[in-house]
Amino acid sequence: AAVEKGNYRHFMQKEIFEQPTVVAQTLSSYLRRSDNSVALPQFDVDLSTIRRLTIVACGTSYYAGMVAKYWFEHFARLPVDIDVASEFRYRDPVLEEGGLALFISQSGETADTLAALRHCRKEGQKIAVVVNVPTSTMAREADLLLPTHAGPEIGVASTKAFTCQLAVLGALAAHMAVEKGRMSREEEQEVVRHLLEAPAALNAALDHDDDIAAMAHLIAPARDVLYLGRGQDYPLALEGALKLKEISYIHAEGYASGEMKHGPIALIDEQVPVIVIAPSGPLFDKTVSNMEEVRARGGQVVLISDSKGLEQASEGCIATIEMPEVHPLIAPLVYAVPVQLLAYHVALVKGTDVDQPRNLAKSVTVE
Ligand code: G6P
Repeated sequence: AAVEKGNYRHFMQKEIFEQPTVVAQTLSSYLRRSDNSVALPQFDVDLSTIRRLTIVACGTSYYAGMVAKYWFEHFARLPVDIDVASEFRYRDPVLEEGGLALFISQSGETADTLAALRHCRKEGQKIAVVVNVPTSTMAREADLLLPTHAGPEIGVASTKAFTCQLAVLGALAAHMAVEKGRMSREEEQEVVRHLLEAPAALNAALDHDDDIAAMAHLIAPARDVLYLGRGQDYPLALEGALKLKEISYIHAEGYASGEMKHGPIALIDEQVPVIVIAPSGPLFDKTVSNMEEVRARGGQVVLISDSKGLEQASEGCIATIEMPEVHPLIAPLVYAVPVQLLAYHVALVKGTDVDQPRNLAKSVTVE
């Protein structure tokens, strides 16, 4: 049956709002509620023997992989190499015998990602695939198939597939950590409990749709927009900039907060909105001092944080977006929502074609 927009104006909007439901669906196939453990599909590889993980993807799926790198390293102490598929396939990467390669794709058909997968297969890697289309080529070629249950994604700019990918990757990182003896059963249970909090937190994030719509006119006139984030929220800055470019055609760049002084700070003036993605936590103060550097140069800061963070740092911002207070593990899922909604509402102000942006394809099946 054809997918309908229902009461929504655009597929992208509908898909943003579906996230609590589809993330819950996805989580329920990886988490066992009876004992709060992670349950993965059968796989003929002993994950405890994996010494290195190679992650390859494109676009938004690549940013999900970047977030997951933090998790695999932090929880499982597993070294991770990550690259975009178009670079990976031609750079002669070093792949150790018995390694695991992980491919992330909404469509399962992206030409560069598929070529990278086949390259890894030839080099003796085991192949894990996080994919949304269960009948896709990548799904068929996987040793370990990890489906996301986002349902059909029609909007060209990926939204719900991204948060579902993060849900699967969070579960996989915890499972790897347990298999490698880096995480106790109690810690696993705690991680599972936090993952299960994601759907409600996504709902709370969606409640701010009106606030975000109201501030979109502040961003719409800009020629350039900067997104800043740190640690596992740095890929969110990249994703925010990508979303804005894709659908509103405003030039945007995502930067690691601490790297700003090495270049992008030269761009800052009263005309440049700077979107800061910063949940409160151990790195928050560092980001606040980066924000102050921006403000001292007239930069127009929009701070996305929780009530604790906003209380401490909202002074002098042109706008703030309040997120629920969440465990750091699910913060990238939750903070994806305001970043998507901001791009969406800015595109509405600009009157661009949200679901079919110019020059872009939903699935890039040619090189
Ligand atoms: C295209 C789409 C993006 C998507 C990327 C990767 O560029 O417009 O939204 O993130 O392909 O696609 P995949 O299906 O492999 O996740």
